[in-house]
Amino acid sequence: MFPSHRPRRLRTTPAMRRLVAETTVRPNQLVLPMFVKEGATEPTPIATMPGVVQHTRDSLRKAAVEAVQAGVGGLMLFGVPETRDATGSGGLDPDGVLNVALRDLRHELGDETVLMSDLCLDEFTDHGHCGLLDADGNVDNDATLRVYGEMALAQAEAGAHLLGPSGMMDGQVGAIREALDRHGRSDVGVLAYSAKYSSAFYGPFRDAVESQLTGDRKTYQQDSGNVREALREVRLDLDEGADLVMVKPGMLYLDVIRAVADISDVPVAAYQISGEYAMVEAAAANGWLDRRSAVLETLTSLRRAGADIVLTYWAVEAARWLR
Ligand code: PBG
Repeated sequence: MFPSHRPRRLRTTPAMRRLVAETTVRPNQLVLPMFVKEGATEPTPIATMPGVVQHTRDSLRKAAVEAVQAGVGGLMLFGVPETRDATGSGGLDPDGVLNVALRDLRHELGDETVLMSDLCLDEFTDHGHCGLLDADGNVDNDATLRVYGEMALAQAEAGAHLLGPSGMMDGQVGAIREALDRHGRSDVGVLAYSAKYSSAFYGPFRDAVESQLTGDRKTYQQDSGNVREALREVRLDLDEGADLVMVKPGMLYLDVIRAVADISDVPVAAYQISGEYAMVEAAAANGWLDRRSAVLETLTSLRRAGADIVLTYWAVEAARWLR
C-alpha cells in the first residue's frame, strides 16, 4: 500500500486549504505609498507605474479616504516639489508639498489610519541625493543628520504618526528620535528603513518623484550581496530606538526579511518597491501572468518570509480582494 503518507489530503478543497493555511495576508497589514505633486491641477499618471499617479492635494485626500475605507493599514506619503535646491529646504518648510499634504490627511482622517511620511532629502534636493553634499560633492552624513532632525519635527508637526527615514545615513534613527523627544514629540514613532539596498528596481520610483539624481547611491545604500551587514544595520536601528524596522526591496530580499524577522523584537516591514510593481504589471499587461494571483502570491511570499507589514502599490486593490 504505497504511498501511505498523502499530503494531498490537506489540499483537497478550498475549505481544507483555508483551514491549514500557514500564512495569511490581511488588509490591515498593507500600507499604500502615495505621491503628491506640488501645484498639480490634475492627477498625473506615472508612465513606468501603470495605475499609480502623482496626486493633486484634492485627489490625494480622496484617494486616501478610499484606501482607508478599503481597509488598508496605513499610508506612506512622498512629496514631489515644484522647485528643488542644494539643501532640500522644501522638506523642512511647513508649507512644502509633503508637510501640507500630511496636514491635509491628518485633518481628513485623524487617527483613523496610520499616517507615515518619507523622511529623506532626495525628493527635495536638486542633485537628487538623500543628504547634503560637502565641498567635494560627497554626501555629508553628520550635516545631513541635523537636517533630518528638523525634517522630523516638521513632519511630526504636520501630523505624521510614523516617520520613515529612507536615506541610510549612519545614526539617522537616533538623531530623529532625539530631535522628537527633545521637542516633546515622544508620541511620534520611527519606521526605520534599516536594510535598504542599492537597487536597479527603484527606477520607476525615480520617475514618480521626478528625481534629478545622476550616478547612484552606493555610498549609503547597501550592496545587494550582503546580509550580515543588514543585520548590523537592524541592530543599530533597534539600539537607536526604531519602533519598526524595514527591508527594502522586498521580493529579491526574502532571505534578508527572514533573517531580520529572526532577530527583531519589533515589527518588521517589507517594501515591495516600484520595480517589483512594474515587473508584474508589465507581464500581466502582456497576458504573460494572471495579475491577481501573481500579486497575491507576491504578498503572501513577503509575509511568509517574515514581514508583518508590507508596503505595496497594490494595497487598495489587494485589500478589496482579501476582504
Ligand atoms: C528615497 C526613497 C526611494 C524609494 C523610497 N524612498 C528611492 C531611492 O532610494 O532611490 C523607492 C521606492 C520604490 O522604488 O518604490 N526617498
